[in-house]
Parts: sequence; structure tokens; C-alpha cells
Amino acid sequence: MKNFVCVLGIALLPGLAIGADDLEWAYPVTPKPGPLDNVAQKQMPGSAKKYTQAQIDDGFNPPDWFPDEHPPMPEIVASGKKPARACALCHLPTGNGHPESSSLAGLPVPYLVRQMAEFKSGNRKGVRATTMIEIAKAISDADVRAAGEYFAALKPGAWTKVVETDTVPKSYVGSGAMRFAMPAGGTEPIGNRIIVLPQDPVRAHSRDPHSGFIDYVPAGSIAKGEALVASGGAGRTIQCAICHGPSLKGLGEVPGIVGRPPIYVFRQLHDLQTGNRSGSLAELMKAVVAKLTVEEMVAISAYLGSLEP
Ligand code: HEC
Ligand code: HEC
Repeated sequence: MKNFVCVLGIALLPGLAIGADDLEWAYPVTPKPGPLDNVAQKQMPGSAKKYTQAQIDDGFNPPDWFPDEHPPMPEIVASGKKPARACALCHLPTGNGHPESSSLAGLPVPYLVRQMAEFKSGNRKGVRATTMIEIAKAISDADVRAAGEYFAALKPGAWTKVVETDTVPKSYVGSGAMRFAMPAGGTEPIGNRIIVLPQDPVRAHSRDPHSGFIDYVPAGSIAKGEALVASGGAGRTIQCAICHGPSLKGLGEVPGIVGRPPIYVFRQLHDLQTGNRSGSLAELMKAVVAKLTVEEMVAISAYLGSLEP
């Protein structure tokens, strides 16, 4: 019997490695950057601008491919203030963000300001929050407000395309903690994950705000998520519209949750559940997430991401 248990244990190990509790996919870590090309000038469709990769990745002067498409950026957003890097580097001048950060466009000013305070106070922590904790500690209240007002005034774009599937391209975490398809190709089962790949890897590497992402989600997630969001799933959670507004686009200080990067939404639900995210208003989310499984949180994030922002 002992031997049988032992053999069974070993047989299960590879399964465990990609089991429900392995959430590395939701918390990508940026690999050490290599040297950046400061010679070749890149161009993006529809933009008259040219930047080298070194300029594209300059935390204190990131690219602005389409300056006519947004209001003037405050200094903190456009170029940052040392040591705080420019908000536009990761959240882009459009505020739609990259999947490993967050979309900010159209979120309420008081909500944005409160989140900066939560990062600063230690109420928002964990591996993906480290960058924001450093930035929130470094910048002044006036800059927090200026950035908040800038992003709140932007209209969120439909930037993410949610696709249900059983298999996904094999991928790796590359620069900017974004995933890219393996050059050698190949596919693998999606399992219980959200795998985000750029619609165009060159344009994503270039921080082109016109080229979005594809969020691959497990088949059946969207309908499962819709049921939980709309009805609360017979006590599994609480109807989101009660607090996030009838169209889930936000209500007062409560942020909108539709059309946002699903992997970000998943990470927040999970962080709220583990306690990596807390705070005065975040308390209201505790009962919402208390019972949810990883699969249910993936489904909710998939459904919300499939809706227009
Ligand atoms: C180097 C990349 C980077 C830069 C620069 C950056 N952010 Fe972030 N930001 C992130 C990441 C990553 C997250 C997601 C944190 C998480 O998942 O917990 C985030 C999340 C946020 C959030 C939380 C959004 C929400 O919906 O709750 C706010 C607010 C925010 N950032 C504001 C800013 C502001 C303002 C600036 C400029 C002063 C800035 N960020 C600069 C990477 C960045
Ligand atoms: C009782 C009120 C309430 C209900 C019900 C509720 N929420 Fe929330 N939710 C909030 C509040 C308030 C916040 C903002 C917390 C803060 O300011 O720190 C929030 C924040 C969030 C966030 C983080 C957004 C971001 O930008 O980081 C997500 C994701 C979220 N809620 C999803 C949901 C989902 C999904 C449901 C339904 C299954 C739901 N909420 C139901 C009150 C609620």
C-alpha cells in the first residue's frame, strides 16, 4: 500500500506542476534586459514618428506615436520625475496599458488617487505591485492628482480580444513581462490559465498603442463567467452590478470592470482573496471573492474582458 501511494504521488507530480495553484502565468516576471538597439529607427503604421528600441524603452521619455490622439500629457505621465518612471511607459499615452500592468483610461479620479495611496501604504503588494509601490512612494500628491486627472479623462479603448480555446501557442515571458509566441511554434493545452499574446509582437515591443492583445481563455469560460457576474452563481459570489453599476462601467468611485485586461482582473480578484490587496473600499470586495475558485475567477475575468469597455 505504501509503495502504491508513493508511485501515485510521483505519477501526480508532473500534473501538479501545472495544477490550479500554479499561478505563475498571472504574475509574469520581467527577464533581465539585454542591450537595446540604439541605431535602427522603427516606424509604426499611421505614425510619422521614428524611435530606436533604446528610445522606446526609455523610462523617462517613452514614445508618443500618436500625439494628436490624446490631450497634452502632464510631465509625470510623459517623462516621469526621477526616480519615478513615466506613467506612459507602461500604461501608454492612451491609458489602455499593457496586459502585465493595467488599463487606467476612464477610471474615476478618486479611485486612481486611492490606489496610489494603497500602493504607498502597503495595502497593495505582491510581485506585480513592486513597480507601483516604488513609484507611488516617490511622487508628490500633486503629481498623483495630475496623473489621475489625465487618465480619468481618457476614453478606454477596445484593446483586448478574448478568444476561447483548448490549446494555445507555446509562449515565453519576454521584455516588459509580456508573453510572446515561441519562435519555434508549437501548441500546448491552455489548462486553467489566461494566456495573453500581442496581436503583433513587433508593434507590442514598440509600445504602439494601436496594436492590442489577444487573451486566450479556456473554452466555456465566457458563459460560466457571465452566469457568476449576472446572478452571483447561487451564493458563489455577489452580483457585480450592485456596486460596479448596471453596465459594469463603474459607479461613483467604484471602478469600471468591463473591457479591462482579463489577466489584470484575474490578478486583482486573486490578490483580494489572498490579502495581497486590501484597503478601506477593497473591504467591500472580500465577500465577493471569498469562495471563488481559480477557475471561477478565470471565467469572470474572461467574460468581463469580452465586453465593450
Ligand atoms: C514600469 C511600469 C509602470 C510604470 C512606469 C507605471 N506603472 Fe502603474 N502599474 C504597473 C503595473 C505592473 C501595475 C499592476 C499592478 C498589479 O497588478 O498589482 C500598475 C497598476 C497601476 C494602478 C492600479 C490600477 C487599478 O485599476 O487599480 C494605477 C492607479 C497606476 N498603475 C498608476 C500609475 C501612475 C499614475 C504612473 C505614473 C506616475 C504609473 N502607474 C507608472 C506598471 C507601471
Ligand atoms: C459590495 C460592493 C461590490 C460588489 C458586489 C463587487 N465589487 Fe468589485 N469593487 C468594489 C469596490 C468598492 C472596489 C474598489 C476598491 C478600492 O477602491 O480599493 C472594487 C474593485 C474591484 C476590482 C479591482 C479593479 C481595479 O481596477 O483594480 C475588480 C476586478 C472587481 N472589483 C471585480 C468585481 C467583480 C467581478 C464583482 C462581481 C463578481 C464585483 N467586483 C462585485 C465593490 C464591489
